[in-house]
Amino acid sequence: MAMVAKRVLLFQIAATLLFASAVAAAASDATAAVLKPGCLSKCGEVDIPYPFGIGTDCSMEGFNITCNDTTDPSKPFMGETNIEILNISLVDHELSVYIYMAYQCYNESGSSAFTSLSPAYLFSTIRNKFTAVGCSALAYIVGETVTGNTYASGCMSYCNDAGGVSEGTSCDGMGCCQTSIPESLSNFSTYFNESDKNSEVASFGPCSYAFLADQNRFHFNKTAFSPNFGNKTNYLVPVVLDWAIRNQSSCQDAKAHPDTNACRGGNTACVDSTNGPGYLCKCSHGYTGNPYLEGGCQDIDECKLPREYPCFGDCRNIPGGYHCSCPPGTHGDATKDNCTAIPPKFPLPARLAVGFSVIFVVLVALVSCVIIRTQKTKHKRERDIFFRKNGGFKLYEEILSKKVDTVQVFTVEELQRATDNFADKRVIGCGGYGMVYRGILDDHRIVAIKKSKKVDERQKDEFVNEIIVLSQINHRHIVRLLGCCLELDVPMLVYEYISNGSLFGLLHPEHYASPLPLQARLTIAEQAAEALAYLHSATNRSIIHGDVKSYNILLDGDLSAKVSDFGASQLVPMDEDEFIMFVQGTLGYLDPECMQTRQLTDRSDVYSFGVVLLELITGKKAIYADDAWEKRSLATSFLVMMKEQRLRDILDNKMIGEGGERLLGEVAAIAKECLSVKGEERPSMKEVAERLHSLRRLRLQPREEYDPGEIEMVKAEETRRCTETDTSGYHILDSSTLLKNVDAGR
Ligand SMILES: *[C@@H]1O[C@H](CO)[C@@H](O)[C@H](O)[C@H]1NC(C)=O
Ligand SMILES: *[C@@H]1O[C@H](CO)[C@@H](O)[C@H](O)[C@H]1NC(C)=O
Ligand SMILES: *[C@@H]1O[C@H](CO)[C@@H](O)[C@H](O)[C@H]1NC(C)=O
Ligand SMILES: *[C@@H]1O[C@H](CO)[C@@H](O)[C@H](O)[C@H]1NC(C)=O
Ligand SMILES: *[C@@H]1O[C@H](CO)[C@@H](O)[C@H](O)[C@H]1NC(C)=O
Ligand SMILES: *[C@@H]1O[C@H](CO)[C@@H](O)[C@H](O)[C@H]1NC(C)=O
Ligand SMILES: *[C@@H]1O[C@H](CO)[C@@H](O)[C@H](O)[C@H]1NC(C)=O
Ligand SMILES: *[C@@H]1O[C@H](CO)[C@@H](O)[C@H](O)[C@H]1NC(C)=O
Ligand SMILES: *[C@@H]1O[C@H](CO)[C@@H](O)[C@H](O)[C@H]1NC(C)=O
Ligand SMILES: *[C@@H]1O[C@H](CO)[C@@H](O)[C@H](O)[C@H]1NC(C)=O
Repeated sequence: MAMVAKRVLLFQIAATLLFASAVAAAASDATAAVLKPGCLSKCGEVDIPYPFGIGTDCSMEGFNITCNDTTDPSKPFMGETNIEILNISLVDHELSVYIYMAYQCYNESGSSAFTSLSPAYLFSTIRNKFTAVGCSALAYIVGETVTGNTYASGCMSYCNDAGGVSEGTSCDGMGCCQTSIPESLSNFSTYFNESDKNSEVASFGPCSYAFLADQNRFHFNKTAFSPNFGNKTNYLVPVVLDWAIRNQSSCQDAKAHPDTNACRGGNTACVDSTNGPGYLCKCSHGYTGNPYLEGGCQDIDECKLPREYPCFGDCRNIPGGYHCSCPPGTHGDATKDNCTAIPPKFPLPARLAVGFSVIFVVLVALVSCVIIRTQKTKHKRERDIFFRKNGGFKLYEEILSKKVDTVQVFTVEELQRATDNFADKRVIGCGGYGMVYRGILDDHRIVAIKKSKKVDERQKDEFVNEIIVLSQINHRHIVRLLGCCLELDVPMLVYEYISNGSLFGLLHPEHYASPLPLQARLTIAEQAAEALAYLHSATNRSIIHGDVKSYNILLDGDLSAKVSDFGASQLVPMDEDEFIMFVQGTLGYLDPECMQTRQLTDRSDVYSFGVVLLELITGKKAIYADDAWEKRSLATSFLVMMKEQRLRDILDNKMIGEGGERLLGEVAAIAKECLSVKGEERPSMKEVAERLHSLRRLRLQPREEYDPGEIEMVKAEETRRCTETDTSGYHILDSSTLLKNVDAGR
């Protein structure tokens, strides 16, 4: 049993192999299918492709070929004719055949020639030329086209007695002439006119020949004049015929009759005949074979034909074409053998680097986000702390209780923008609490921003004090507070900007400037006094300035006084005349009584104002250097001089020169009263203001012009002076070093 099974298996394998090889053979036949099965493929040496064929059912109608095998090799003829076929081209739709020539010899009778073609064929206009060879030969050609037109032409060759044609000559008239034929020529005859026959021409041959000939096969040369030229060729010349399917006039007609369409199967294309009516069948691009046979057009496997379809890379055949690409890692034109290696755009290390970079960036971004978030929260917390520390809540309480409603609260960013981030060039002064900057707000308002020095816990309330005090004051000779910022550890106040700097700066310019006129001085003094009087009495609660000095009296554009810097100010309830506080002020202006009692009263301001009056009339600083370069208190010196009746010695010479000695004396008298040791002996600020007012009215002279250009210069100096506080004659008194703190007894 086992043996039988094995044999059956072997048989099956053999059968499979046989079948497979048969299929392969059929396939290879199909690729070369130009022939109808069962028909001869050749006659002699000429290939016979369909639609041509030998015998019944082997050809298409009109393409019958007779193969005469009595000769060796066999010779194919067109149909029933005696026209021998030399070659058949399926691709070019051409047929090379032999036809007869016409000839005539001078002592012989000649012959004309006639050729007629069956409907499928026409003489090729391109390939053939009517040619006459001979001496003084006039040859004629007369034919008919398929459209029924008659065509007649002729040509004449020349010759001369010198005779002969040189080797390698062409058919250019000498011994040979040529002319073209029209399209669609179906039949024609060639002949010579007997009466034109020339007499003997020794140098040339005895005969002339006329024929239509294939230009590729007939080359005119000297042998055409050999006596046996015609005899040697059997009077036959090769000519090219165009063949086509001519029972429909065009492809359009052929498509209209699909059942008789000669273009069979797939992958064929129909082309109109270029010579005469009819159409041609061709294989589509990328296919080869016989378009006149069913399934005759087969795909060309271009990859197997590297000579016709060069490919130096990876070749892949596709129906109707092929893909030729450079091998992986290279680029270029694979069909031209210049695939070059692609420079590695992203080698592995680079790719790794990019990958890690991306991860790194993402990580950094994440971490940054977290940090920024925590920083923001921290920053916010810090701001809140500062706000609280700077007495923000006290201010808010006041705002809530409607005591403060004119103060605008600024953010740090707003003020940084306004001052170029607190640039040094924006510094316009330095007060007792810190630097003062010139700033421009977002709404273009020009302001002075007072940036406090670091405040300690003890000072925080004072800072808010100034805010509250100033917010309740609205007087034309007092600097207006516009707002504040409590978000930093250094609180800031925003004031209206006073353009002409301080009285101190004008009185004590670093460089020479024309002195402030007496009238202006009096006006300033009166206005400052008015402002202080207002502080002391005009509001519902008395306010003591606490730090009156020429540095704190600012001057605006028209030299109108503006009292500023309320850092030491205190509100005094109306029912209390004086209260206890820790005193701070500036050396040279400090009320001696206050220093002893540590009680600040409105009369302390009067004392300080007295010193300012002295500055105005003497032109000296509150602490000045005398002729011996010894530092002296102006107040003390003045009082001594007054006692010794030497007032003139201390007065400003320029003012005396103005003829104001009497006036200066009056002011000196007021100053003296202001400087009384005992507070109660000093006049009130209101009195001082009134007396100054009447004094100024006494002076009838018109106010003199003051050059503003010089004021600018003075201001610049003042800015610079902030860095040289020692030479300014001021010393900012820190109360903690001079006096023991006393709790505010409110
Ligand atoms: C045209 O020729 C084809 C092929 O020879 C043939 O099958 C067909 O019958 C012919 N049609 C006419 C109208 O003659
Ligand atoms: C072709 O020619 C042969 C003789 O050469 C003839 O027997 C045959 O019938 C012809 N076929 C056609 C289709 O004309
Ligand atoms: C074949 O050719 C010879 C000589 O060329 C001729 O005698 C003979 O009749 C031809 N046969 C046919 C069938 O045409
Ligand atoms: C026949 O023509 C084809 C194409 O025109 C050519 O390749 C071939 O050599 C020719 N054969 C002969 C015998 O002239
Ligand atoms: C024609 O002339 C040549 C010489 O000119 C001569 O050899 C030849 O026999 C002649 N032929 C006839 C038929 O007269
Ligand atoms: C020449 O060709 C035309 C057109 O094909 C035809 O009508 C005519 O009968 C032909 N003449 C001869 C003598 O064959
Ligand atoms: C031949 O030529 C003569 C005169 O040159 C002319 O009369 C005659 O008609 C011509 N014959 C032909 C058929 O052309
Ligand atoms: C001259 O022409 C003939 C036929 O056309 C050819 O066989 C021969 O080789 C040619 N001779 C020269 C020298 O070209
Ligand atoms: C032509 O050829 C035949 C034989 O092929 C020969 O007998 C005859 O003499 C030749 N004629 C001439 C003019 O060469
Ligand atoms: C490929 O070769 C052709 C011709 O040799 C040249 O013109 C072309 O620039 C080359 N291309 C490349 C990518 O090298």
